[in-house]
Amino acid sequence: MVDSNTDFELKNPVNVEVQEASEEYVNKLFSKSNSDFEVVAILKKLAVDRIYHEMIENPDEFKEKPHLSAVERWSGVTPAGPRDFLKKRIALPALPQVLIQIRNVINDPDSSASDLAEVISMDPKLVAAILRLANSAMYNFRTEVDTPTRAVALLGFKQASSLALGTVSLSLFKRSKVSVLELEKFWKHSIACGIIAQEIARAVNLGDPERFFVSGLLHDIGLYVIFESEKSLAVELKRLANEADESLYDAERDLLGFDHAILGGVIIKDWSFPRSLVIAAAGHHSPEKANEDPDAGVVHIADYAARALGYDLGISSVLGGVDEAAWNHIGITVDKFKELIPQFEVLIDEIFEILSPA
Ligand SMILES: [Fe+2]
Repeated sequence: MVDSNTDFELKNPVNVEVQEASEEYVNKLFSKSNSDFEVVAILKKLAVDRIYHEMIENPDEFKEKPHLSAVERWSGVTPAGPRDFLKKRIALPALPQVLIQIRNVINDPDSSASDLAEVISMDPKLVAAILRLANSAMYNFRTEVDTPTRAVALLGFKQASSLALGTVSLSLFKRSKVSVLELEKFWKHSIACGIIAQEIARAVNLGDPERFFVSGLLHDIGLYVIFESEKSLAVELKRLANEADESLYDAERDLLGFDHAILGGVIIKDWSFPRSLVIAAAGHHSPEKANEDPDAGVVHIADYAARALGYDLGISSVLGGVDEAAWNHIGITVDKFKELIPQFEVLIDEIFEILSPA
């Protein structure tokens, strides 16, 4: 029997057992989201169709995965706050020289486009990534962009510096020997969040869409640091979230008294990165605290949408809520958002291919 609570139907279901399993999965996924909210209803409808096909094509993805045996049991000692956590349990990546230089160029009001092009030119990997991004479907330049100088000229200083900062920052997220985090999923989620945030910002003319792209790329840095710093804590958070059927950030708040968003804001602030990136990371799970800036709200919506569309981290099977006030504050209509969804996948795949480490 199909759950009578569901308000959606599959197109031509062929396997009733899988249909029921996929609906159960989706109902749990959206259990903390307000299904009366139109955007949630749209994402839920898309999810049931997607999950059904994923369950048919890749059933192993949906089986419970064993805990990592190499990870010790968590000590149970909670940090006094994000700063205390960073002091004692640090797996914070060191900033590469090129990232420091990009940041300095951004923070120096006297910097010029040629300073930026010069910094980019020093790193061949960055040059390749910037040129591929500038020639990607994210932009529709009529000519081929073949040098960093040309890329900076066409994109503009702000946009090019944002892209350079985001591109190099992604390389901080590396694979470690025993990782609780599935790095490929983390990368894809970060890129998906960046693309969706950027496209929302573009659609409602918030200006400087690349800033939202970078906010999306970096929004979960606190999660990376928690999961890489203390793997036994990561396993415990994962267990707690799944046992209590709650989202990861709720499990973090219950266990630690703060969440990865707040921690990420502290890290990005300490790095002297632009304020908009601090606000977006710190507020992406509590956008109501940062209403005067659109950054946290846009990244909150983009993060939710990315996970609902399947670009999740594979940590918790519950999405958490989406803040309707943040949605209203951004001012995007449901129809406009619906129109954007098909482009998301195309852009995410292309940009993942450009930026992924493999
Ligand atoms: Fe998050």
